[in-house]
Amino acid sequence: MQGRILLVDDEQDLLEWLSVVLENEGYAVRVTTSAQDALKFFKQEQFDMVISDIRMPDVSGIELLKLLKKHDPEVIVLMITAYASVETAVNALRFGAYDYLFKPFKLDEIKLIIKKAFSQKRIFADDKELEKKLKERYRFANIIGKSKSMQKIFDLVDKVAKTNTTVLIHGESGTGKELIAKAIHYNSLRASKPFVSIDCGALPDELLESELFGHVKGSFTGAISTKQGLFEVADGGTLFLDEIGETSQAMQAKLLRTLQEREVRSVGATKTVKVDVRVVAATNRNLDEEVRHENFRKDLFYRISVITLNLPKLSARKEDIPLLVNHFLKKYQHTAKQSKKISNECLDLFLEYPWPGNVRELENAIESAVALAEQEIILPKDLPLRITNEDAAEEKNHDAEDSLKGKVEMFEKELIAKTMTEVGGNKNLVAKILKMTRRNLDYKIKRYEL
Ligand SMILES: Nc1ncnc2c1ncn2[C@@H]1O[C@H](COP(=O)(O)OP(=O)(O)OP(=O)(O)O)[C@@H](O)[C@H]1O
Ligand SMILES: [Mg+2]
Repeated sequence: MQGRILLVDDEQDLLEWLSVVLENEGYAVRVTTSAQDALKFFKQEQFDMVISDIRMPDVSGIELLKLLKKHDPEVIVLMITAYASVETAVNALRFGAYDYLFKPFKLDEIKLIIKKAFSQKRIFADDKELEKKLKERYRFANIIGKSKSMQKIFDLVDKVAKTNTTVLIHGESGTGKELIAKAIHYNSLRASKPFVSIDCGALPDELLESELFGHVKGSFTGAISTKQGLFEVADGGTLFLDEIGETSQAMQAKLLRTLQEREVRSVGATKTVKVDVRVVAATNRNLDEEVRHENFRKDLFYRISVITLNLPKLSARKEDIPLLVNHFLKKYQHTAKQSKKISNECLDLFLEYPWPGNVRELENAIESAVALAEQEIILPKDLPLRITNEDAAEEKNHDAEDSLKGKVEMFEKELIAKTMTEVGGNKNLVAKILKMTRRNLDYKIKRYEL
């Protein structure tokens, strides 16, 4: 048998036809028209792959995808959709779908995708290989940053990885906190043990407590079975406490005790259990300030911030932008029919844009541009509107002529125009005289309609 596939689609005809074809190819196929049943079957039986429609009446394909991935992050999910809705398809990829196909598709097309997916799965089936892949993925080479500030971070990661010290990673949303946490783990002696991550801001106290420390069956209503806490799950490895700044004072006290005594007590348990866990914590808050305002316990702050990594925001390390763009172009290349390049106009826009969502926002912009661009070169029109409209938005807020920006721009425009006339329109010369790059000059000429 080649592998087990679960087919989900509300179109009975397609199910019958596809299951016959795939069975002939040697796969074991199970079909259902209901997403709810699909989830049930998936939990009861083992499947290597799920092929699901995106639009279904009861649960949407995207919802199903999320639930499947939550249950088994390794499962290969292929989405099919009758509506050529690129956005939903991109969304599906974002939530971990392996690929997507638009209906009607050719048989050869789907057969090839399935074959490719399974050959990759086979690599991952081997634990050692998976580990190697993970290490590769979080190797420094895959965390992009040539800026001085990032190079400094890499040096620190290198140093702290070899120790057991608690590390606090501070940075705005999307600056790469989780990526750095993983780099610390996969470059440490704990690399072959689990890396476990939990978002402390997403759960109410009682739930967070039972997630972290576990609970004994019957210790509270809803505790239908005994559950191991994440501190125990991460034993020997690393526990990543994301958004630690969002925890309550009571939770902070519990965390402090655990870090000091290196043992945990499950909710409702009488005995404690020793754990050997390295903690890496992250926050986008200024914990110093939170301590001063007494929102965060000073003693816990000192305990976790022995080493603090401050991740710079993207707008403060613009030299990393072109490298990151390249990196993400390669990463999302497979979602497009042809390989894509970025235009200079886009790069210029990227260098001006403030990136409130940091690297994540840049990654999303490239991902959608790769999927949306019909031509080989990605143009500003393929970018999210907020990036191309930044200037317009800013100008709306000022009276263009009166604002400093307006005045500077007017001066800039006149200076460029004057120099242009002086050298008879030789742009290379103008760029040289004004000590600016030729690309930047071209951008300004276009912008000021010179
Ligand atoms: N230096 C980098 N090189 C390559 N990819 C990066 C880099 N920094 C961040 N990324 C990518 O950007 C995305 C966001 O990173 P990550 O999840 O680590 O950020 P975060 O700081 O944890 O954000 P949040 O606070 O929103 O959770 C990820 O897909 C990550 O792979
Ligand atoms: Mg994060």
